[in-house]
Amino acid sequence: MADKLDAVALLKADHRKVEDLFAQFEAAKGDGKKKALAEQICMELTVHTKIEEDIFYPACEGKVEEDLLKEAYVEHDGAKVLIAEIEAGGPDDEFYDAKVKVLSEMIEHHVEEEEKRAEGMFAQARKAGLDMDDLGERMAAEKKSLMTQYKATGTPRPEVSTLEGTSLA
Ligand SMILES: [Fe+2]
Ligand SMILES: [Fe+2]
Repeated sequence: MADKLDAVALLKADHRKVEDLFAQFEAAKGDGKKKALAEQICMELTVHTKIEEDIFYPACEGKVEEDLLKEAYVEHDGAKVLIAEIEAGGPDDEFYDAKVKVLSEMIEHHVEEEEKRAEGMFAQARKAGLDMDDLGERMAAEKKSLMTQYKATGTPRPEVSTLEGTSLA
């Protein structure tokens, strides 16, 4: 059934899954458990942002408010900075839990912008008549292949498209 979801149902299911993982992380005791959960969160988010950026967002081009779409790309890239930090670090790091928490808050805001009733990105996309079944099918296929790839090779460093990579140090 999972591969028969339409685009919005598929993306929303990803959102719920990651929210649940963040809640598990917050309740988790022990470094091993925390690290495993954080790595799963990073992998899920890397796959999710990639299928949105490769398939869903381009389909929204010219169909949803341009500002909203641009902000979504920048929000993804902001999240990727923390994802890369979390992947490079571990539960021993002084700010590890804080980074995971702040990432969860960034994602919460971003998900709200996508799912908001009436003016959210998904609502605008549906109103514009995007073919959600086709997009869902294509994203499910890409997700499956990325998951297989990342499980074999590890999650790659996220790619950003909107940030200049300004050096902070
Ligand atoms: Fe999303
Ligand atoms: Fe997104």
